[in-house]
Formats: sequence, C-alpha cells, structure tokens
Amino acid sequence: MAHRSEAQAFGPVPAATPGATIAPDMTPDLPSTRLDLALRDAARRLPGPDARHEAECLLLHALGRDRAWLFAHGDEPLAGSAAAVFEALLARRLAGEPVAYLVGRRGFWTLDLRVSPATLIPRPETERLVELALERLPDGRLLRVADLGTGTGAIALALASERPQAQVLATDTSADALAVARANARDHGIANVAFRQGSWCAPLAGERFDLIASNPPYIAEGDPHLAQGDLRFEPAAALASGADGLEAIRMIVADAPRHLHTGGWLLLEHGWDQGDAVRALLEGAGFADVATATDLEARDRVTLGCFSGPPPASG
Ligand SMILES: C[S@@+](CC[C@H](N)C(=O)[O-])C[C@H]1O[C@@H](n2cnc3c(N)ncnc32)[C@H](O)[C@@H]1O
Repeated sequence: MAHRSEAQAFGPVPAATPGATIAPDMTPDLPSTRLDLALRDAARRLPGPDARHEAECLLLHALGRDRAWLFAHGDEPLAGSAAAVFEALLARRLAGEPVAYLVGRRGFWTLDLRVSPATLIPRPETERLVELALERLPDGRLLRVADLGTGTGAIALALASERPQAQVLATDTSADALAVARANARDHGIANVAFRQGSWCAPLAGERFDLIASNPPYIAEGDPHLAQGDLRFEPAAALASGADGLEAIRMIVADAPRHLHTGGWLLLEHGWDQGDAVRALLEGAGFADVATATDLEARDRVTLGCFSGPPPASG
C-alpha cells in the first residue's frame, strides 16, 4: 500500500526520442550494448514468467519504437537517453510498479488503452463480461447500455466499438479515471459513449437501460492480496468493497431494477468465490435466468440476470 502514492506521483516514464539509439552516446557512465543483448539481460534481471515480455514492453517504450522495428534493429546499440530511460524503467519494475503504469498503456479487447494510477489496469478476465454482454446486445438496434465504475472505459468502449448504434453511458466516482476514459474514447474515435461522475446507479437517475454492466471493486477490505503484486499500486477504491467484498455489488443489485427495462440484463464481474452470493442477491432482487459464467481458468467470474419486472418506479 505504501507504494501507491509513490506510483501516483511519478506516472508513466516518457519515452526517449526515437533515433536516440543511434545518436552519439551522451551518457558516458552508461556503457552502450546491443539492443538484443540489453533485452536478454533485462529479461534475466526481472522476476516471473512474463519477464521477457515485460522487458520487451519496457525497452520498446524507452525507444519509442514498435516490435517490428526492434526485430530489424537488434544489433544496433542501446545508447544515450534511451539507455537511461530503459534503466530507470527496469529499476521501477524491479521495485514492483506494474508495467502498464510505467508505459501508461494496456491492451483490452481490440483497444490499446491509456491507463493511469487513477485507474485499474484492465484485466483479460473482464473480456468475458464483454463477450456475455455482446451476446445480449443485438447488432443494429438502438440500445442503451451503462457501464458502472468504468475506470479506463474498458468495458464501455469495447461495447460501444462493437455496437456503434448503442448509446453507452460510462460512470465512475473518480474524476481522474473519467478523464482517462474520455481520452481513450477520443483516441479511438468512439463517439457513442457519454461519461458521468457519480456513485453506482445515482448518475442513471430517471433513466432505464437495456443492459447494465459493472466490474466493481469486490475484494474484502484487509484481504492480504491487496498488499501484494500489482494490487499495491492500484487505487483502493477500484479494488476493495466492505468487509466481505460485496458492498458495491449489493448496492448495484438493489438499485439496478429501477434502471432496467423489463427484459434488461445486469452483468456483474466478481471474485471466483462469490458466485453463490451474487446469484442469491440477483434472485432476491427479482432477476430471472440468473447464472454464473466462468473464465478461461474455469473459475466463477461473471454473474448475470434478466430483469423480468414489473419495473419499480424509476429513481
Ligand atoms: C474494479 S475497477 C473496474 C474498472 C473498469 N471497469 C475495468 O473493468 O477495468 C472499479 C471501478 O469502480 C470505480 N468505483 C469505485 N467506487 C465507485 C462508486 N461508488 N461508484 C462508481 N464507481 C466506483 C473505481 O473508481 C474503479 O474505476
């Protein structure tokens, strides 16, 4: 936890100017080495099964180049400002900072998204929720969709890009996260998403949707995982939710019926051990066809239900 404010203070490391690798070495105390050898050495220094991939991401960021360029120029020297930037990135990664925060980007669905320490780093598991939502959003129809707790905009932007005729509303309590999400929408030219600040269903006041999706915080406060790995650097408000991790989910399930059309769907991502509890919450709130879908590792991941009404007064 102590590391989080440090990560927020630093933000992503700016890349060196492309071409710096072949400029004269202006950093006499950093000996130059070939790019492919620098990559091999960095992959040996980093821990974990993704060391090679992480080292490559950091080197490409330091160079301001893409993989194809690195492939073709592996025998050129890593020198000058790029060498210094690469070394700084490696030092921060060795201290535990997530690669996505160091380079300021993470891929999700088909989109390369900006991330910042104000946002959760989008996870591949959340693409399961996107798949399940798309199965319930017929193409070519004018549908209304809400993504509660949008972070980088990952879910909202994936759905909006796949369903250009849908109107998607993305919400978050964090103004900083919403600024990142708006920038991602701009970067990708996705115009059918609106953004609103507020807590769970509050920004939906008086409105109804065909589908509400959320990947809310769902880790129990005090869970030891919060003090490990990448989670140490991610915003607490994006991760933890009450003593059992279900506080946000309870609030969303309680209010969602007021904001769904009859036949509308609620989809919630949750922890692998929360499927029973989330299904019970949805059934208790009058949802039908309640089911839990598993992720690629066959663990409970997304619970969904269809609101079959009668609809309570919209609030
Ligand atoms: C687990 S992150 C998910 C981010 C993004 N949807 C994703 O899947 O990558 C949860 C998000 O919920 C937001 N959040 C936390 N409390 C909230 C609240 N009361 N109302 C709305 N959003 C909230 C956090 O700021 C964070 O962006």
